[in-house]
Order: sequence, then C-alpha cells, then structure tokens
Amino acid sequence: MTVSCAPAVNTRAVRFHNYGEPSEVLHLDDAVLPAPGPERIRVRVQACGLNPADWALCRGLFPGGLPRGIGLDVSGIVDAVGEGVQGVVVGDAMFGAADFAGAASAGAADFAVLQHWARRPAGLTPVEAAALPLTVETAYRSLDSLGVTAGQTVMVNGAGTTVGFAAVQMALMRGARVVASAGDTFADQLRALGALVTSYGDGMAERVLSLTGTAPDLILDTAPISGVLPVLVQIAGDPTHVFTISDFAAAQALGVRSGIGEAVSLRYDVLGDFAQLAADRRFTVPVALTFALEDWRAAMEISLGGQPRGKLILLPGSAD
Ligand SMILES: NC(=O)c1ccc[n+]([C@@H]2O[C@H](COP(=O)([O-])OP(=O)(O)OC[C@H]3O[C@@H](n4cnc5c(N)ncnc54)[C@H](OP(=O)(O)O)[C@@H]3O)[C@@H](O)[C@H]2O)c1
Repeated sequence: MTVSCAPAVNTRAVRFHNYGEPSEVLHLDDAVLPAPGPERIRVRVQACGLNPADWALCRGLFPGGLPRGIGLDVSGIVDAVGEGVQGVVVGDAMFGAADFAGAASAGAADFAVLQHWARRPAGLTPVEAAALPLTVETAYRSLDSLGVTAGQTVMVNGAGTTVGFAAVQMALMRGARVVASAGDTFADQLRALGALVTSYGDGMAERVLSLTGTAPDLILDTAPISGVLPVLVQIAGDPTHVFTISDFAAAQALGVRSGIGEAVSLRYDVLGDFAQLAADRRFTVPVALTFALEDWRAAMEISLGGQPRGKLILLPGSAD
C-alpha cells in the first residue's frame, strides 16, 4: 500500500524520448506523476543536481525503456511513501538518489521517486543536500576500492571535480597525506584543507614528485577523460596503484583499476554521516550555480562545456 497525499497533478520532467546528444534529445515535458513502488519514497523536489552521468544516460548508458528522465541528485519533501518503507512519513525533508536507470521521469522534475535516501539534517539547505549523493557515494566507494588508509600518500587527480574535491576531504579524514591536481577554481581551498596542490597538464608528473618526494602509494583519478592515465601510471610506478572513475577504456588497456570486474557495493549508506558533517561545516561539495527548472538547458550547456566549477543545481519549486 502506498501512503500518499498526492495531488492530482502531473509532473514537469526533463527527459528524452530517443537516445542522442543531450542538447538534441532532452525536453521539459509534462509527465505522469511517478508512483513510489515498494521500498521507494516520492518527494516534491526542492533541488536537483546535474552530473556528467545525465549526458551519458542520453547517449545510451543503461539502455532500456523510453522516455527516460535525467537527474539523480535530489533533495525534497516526502509526499508519498512506498510499501515496506519504515521510518519515513509524508512531510519529512529527505535527500538522496532518484530512481535513475529506467524511470520515465527522474530528479530533474517537480516530483521524483527516490531509491536511496537520508534525512536532511538541520543546518543543511536543500541545495547543499542535492550536491551530495552521487559525489559522496562515488568518492567514498572509490577510496575504499583503492584501499586508502591512514599514513599513505594519496594523489587525487582532478580535484577540481566535485568527486575529486570530496575525495580529497575524505582521504584527509582517513589520515592520508594528500597531493592533488586541480585547476585554479579550488586550488586555494584544497591547500587550506591540507592538501599539496599542483596544476594538471604538461609536467604534472615532475611537479607531483617534487611535492611528495616519493611516488604516491595510491592514485585516484577523478578527472573527466583526458588521456592522463599513462602519466598517472608513470607517477605511481605500478598501474594497479591507480584507480580511475572515468576512463574505463584506457584503464583496461593499461591495467589500471576501475572497479570493472571487481565486487563493488554502492555506498549510499554513508550519505547521512556526510550530510551531518556538511551541516556542521566540516565537509562540503561546492555548488557553482542554481537554475529554475525551466532553465535546465543553460545548466546543461555549462556542464557540457567541461568547466562547471562545482555542482549545477535545478530548483523545480522556484516557479511556485
Ligand atoms: N564511475 C562512477 O561511478 C562515477 C560517478 C560520478 C562521476 N564519474 C565521472 O567522474 C568524473 C568527474 O565527475 P564530476 O561530476 O565530479 O565532474 P565535474 O564536477 O563536472 O568536473 C568538472 C571539473 O573538472 C575539472 N577538469 C576539467 N578538465 C580537467 C582535466 N583535463 N584534468 C583534471 N580536471 C579537469 C574542472 O575543474 P578545474 O577548475 O580544476 O579545472 C571542471 O570544473 C566525470 O568524468 C564523471 O563522468 C564517475
């Protein structure tokens, strides 16, 4: 049984009816209000973070039924609770990951069904909460896969990405010494957190080794695909000490780890802990810009431009 105070309305949803380039296939549609199935909740979306994965979805990642909604990172107010869900009631402030791979509408919508969620703590805004889910899950899981523990020297390549920025903070929390490559956007913030920082690009291997003195024990590559993996292998001295979250083809060719072929468990279970740290101002995922839902195309263009400089967040409720 679904417990609901659902209004008899549809939902606006950014979604695609055919696979292809996001700028060509995405539209803001009127869609049927999605029902929360068993073990799911539905929220009235307050904020939704966009990610590179949204554009990959349009191009055919997780192929399946169409139409398909985009937007995984959601915060909102519960308006319906699916069968089997305990401890959540209508009106609760939650954030988490939308039913993403296969839903006719997802987080970039007025209403969204969530597959994973945590309570939004006092002191954390809906926008700040919507910046967390995919970034926190990916950074935490990747550091676990890599085996990052106290006392190691760990390089995060691409620490100006949201996943990289989160991974630097998490590695420091684990007691690692961290060296990061990043552009100008977050270099000073990363230094203030306690990381050694250099720019990415030509000469990075020499700059990293002059900062650390010896090869880092482990390297996490969180950069967008850029052909950098051979350089990271050169820095580490062993491809199995490198883990990438983006360049799976090069990883396979070079013997770099990427989680493919490994037993991997998603780590949405840590969302609540990192939300509390964020509410306490001891952890952050930077937000670049916010947009009304109907301005989704401007957000998409910035993201596709490759330099979003933090999370891009849609605000479906802003036109209410
Ligand atoms: N496998 C997974 O589960 C998973 C999950 C999430 C994301 N990902 C992938 O991980 C990557 C990062 O995702 P994200 O959402 O965190 O990205 P993002 O925040 O959208 O990353 C954008 C930032 O990347 C930096 N950048 C651009 N070109 C770079 C380069 N050549 N080298 C290093 N940094 C560069 C820029 O920051 P600067 O200001 O520093 O230049 C830019 O602002 C993406 O490729 C994404 O597809 C994988």
